[in-house]
Amino acid sequence: MKVYDKKDFPVAQIRRFLEPGPIVLVSSAWSGRNNIMTMGWHMVMEFQPSLIGCYIWSENHSFQMVRDSKECVINIPTVDLASTVVEIGNSSGRDIDKFATFKLTARPGTRIGAPLIEQCYANFECKLVDSSLIRKYSLFVLEVVKAHVARSPRYPRTIHYRGDGVFMISGENTSRYRKRFKPQNL
Ligand SMILES: Cc1cc2nc3c(=O)[nH]c(=O)nc-3n(C[C@H](O)[C@H](O)[C@H](O)COP(=O)(O)O)c2cc1C
Repeated sequence: MKVYDKKDFPVAQIRRFLEPGPIVLVSSAWSGRNNIMTMGWHMVMEFQPSLIGCYIWSENHSFQMVRDSKECVINIPTVDLASTVVEIGNSSGRDIDKFATFKLTARPGTRIGAPLIEQCYANFECKLVDSSLIRKYSLFVLEVVKAHVARSPRYPRTIHYRGDGVFMISGENTSRYRKRFKPQNL
């Protein structure tokens, strides 16, 4: 087994090793306007009910929109949308209509008022179920109440942020270790 030679590392940058879940786009609606933000800081908190914790910075326009509407959609973009994903993260819905600017199609949600982004591989309609951590941590606890996922491919080429402007693109999959799992952990 390999042993690594290690160095001190700035604690403010360890996020680079923990972050790489897929980058997602959060779409929301409030007061007759739609918006989209790019998000990397999210985590699964429970699978039944399906809970996701999300960090939304209080200066983002989306913060107020999701907090007040109590709804949003988590959309999963693939690598073909990478430039758009960065540009959505560089701009604010306070200044522009991001659906129109980035030529994305808003499809009505089936369970909530926020729009789905049609060009994304998957769309998860979410309700804000716990706002008690927003003030202290900007942490929104969302429940996925409806999920729309493309029929194929089974494993989309998602993008994962590694910090400092570097994305990892999801690649190789293996089932080689599947037989080692406890069934309840699959
Ligand atoms: C790769 C990437 C990841 C990001 N992750 C987050 C995040 O997890 N939380 C957050 O609040 N902002 C995040 N941002 C920044 C927001 O997307 C950005 O502030 C956006 O412009 C907010 O838009 P809004 O003002 O329309 O809500 C990220 C940006 C990029 C490019």
